[in-house]
Amino acid sequence: MSLLHEFYTLSNGIRMPKIGIGTYKLKAGQEAYQAVLDALTIGIRHIDSGIIYQNEQSVGQAIKDSGIPRENIFITSKVPPHIKTYEGTLRMFEKSLLNLGVDYIDLYIINAPTPLHDVGGNYDVANLEVYRALEYLYQEERVAAIGVSQFQIKDIENIIMNHHITPHVQQISFFIGHTQQELVSYCNKHQIQIQAFSPLAKGYLLNNPILTDMAKRYRKSQAQLALKYVIQKGVAPIPKSSNKEHLLSNTQLDFEIHHSDMLILDDIIDDPRVFDDVVTHKTYR
Ligand SMILES: NC(=O)c1ccc[n+]([C@@H]2O[C@H](COP(=O)([O-])OP(=O)(O)OC[C@H]3O[C@@H](n4cnc5c(N)ncnc54)[C@H](OP(=O)(O)O)[C@@H]3O)[C@@H](O)[C@H]2O)c1
Repeated sequence: MSLLHEFYTLSNGIRMPKIGIGTYKLKAGQEAYQAVLDALTIGIRHIDSGIIYQNEQSVGQAIKDSGIPRENIFITSKVPPHIKTYEGTLRMFEKSLLNLGVDYIDLYIINAPTPLHDVGGNYDVANLEVYRALEYLYQEERVAAIGVSQFQIKDIENIIMNHHITPHVQQISFFIGHTQQELVSYCNKHQIQIQAFSPLAKGYLLNNPILTDMAKRYRKSQAQLALKYVIQKGVAPIPKSSNKEHLLSNTQLDFEIHHSDMLILDDIIDDPRVFDDVVTHKTYR
C-alpha cells in the first residue's frame, strides 16, 4: 500500500496520515502556496503549519484552491511559544482558523514549553493554562486532537498530573542520530504519538557517508532512507520541501530497511551536522 494511504491512529481514535509536509521557512506568498498545492496534488494530506511561520494564509489558500474536501486533510497548527495564557491561546487559535480559512483544526499543539527568549525558564503553571484552553477547544470539538511540542518528560508529567486529557501527540526533533529515546519511550508508554520535526535534520543529515552508502545499496535517496527510518520507528515525519520532486520522492517509501541496517543507523551519533542556527550537534546529542 502507498504510504499516502497509511495512518497512525491516535489514542482518541483520530487517524493521522503517516507522512506530512512541514511549512516552516516557506516564504509567504507563492513559495508556500505552491509547495502546499504541490503536496496536496501529489496526495499528501497532512500539513504542519504554525502562526509563527507567517505563511498560514498562503497555506490556507492552497488548501482552498486544491478543491480537496476539508475532512480529507489533516492540519496541525500551534500555539506560539511566547503565548502562555488561556485567553491568549484562544485568540491565537481563532487567528490561525482565519489565516487557514478553516473552521476546525485537526491537531492543535503547544509549540514549546517556554518562550524562545527564555529557554530554561519555568512555565509549569502557565503551560497548564495554555493546555486548559486546548482542552476547552477539544471539548467544544473545534480541534480533533491536542498535544505538545518540544516538551520534556517533566513538562508532560505536569500536564498529565493536572489535566484530564493526556496529549495525543508530541512533536519533537527526531532524525537518524537524534532519536530522543528516553522521551520517546515515555511518550509510547502514555500512548502519545510522536511527530518528527526536522526529520532530515534540516538537510544536514543527507551528507552523512554511512547514510549515503546505504542509500546507494537500497537504490534510494538519502532522504528516502532517512524518512523510512523515522516511519519504521513508528514516528510521523513532516519534512519541509518547496521542491516538487523532493515532495514526491519523500512519499515513495515502499521498501523496508532491514533490521541489521536499522541497527547501523541507530548507531550513528557522530554526524557533524549543524542542526539549528544556534544549536550545534554538541548540544542536541
Ligand atoms: N515544533 C517545532 O518547534 C518545529 C521546529 C522546527 C520545524 N518544525 C516543523 O517541521 C518541519 C520540517 O522540519 P525542518 O523544516 O526544520 O527540516 P527538514 O524537513 O528536516 O529539512 C528541510 C530541508 O530538507 C530539504 N529536503 C526536503 N526533502 C528533500 C529531499 N527529498 N532531498 C533533498 N533535500 C530535501 C529541504 O530543501 P528543499 O525545500 O529544497 O526540498 C530543506 O532544506 C518544519 O517545516 C515545521 O513544519 C517544527
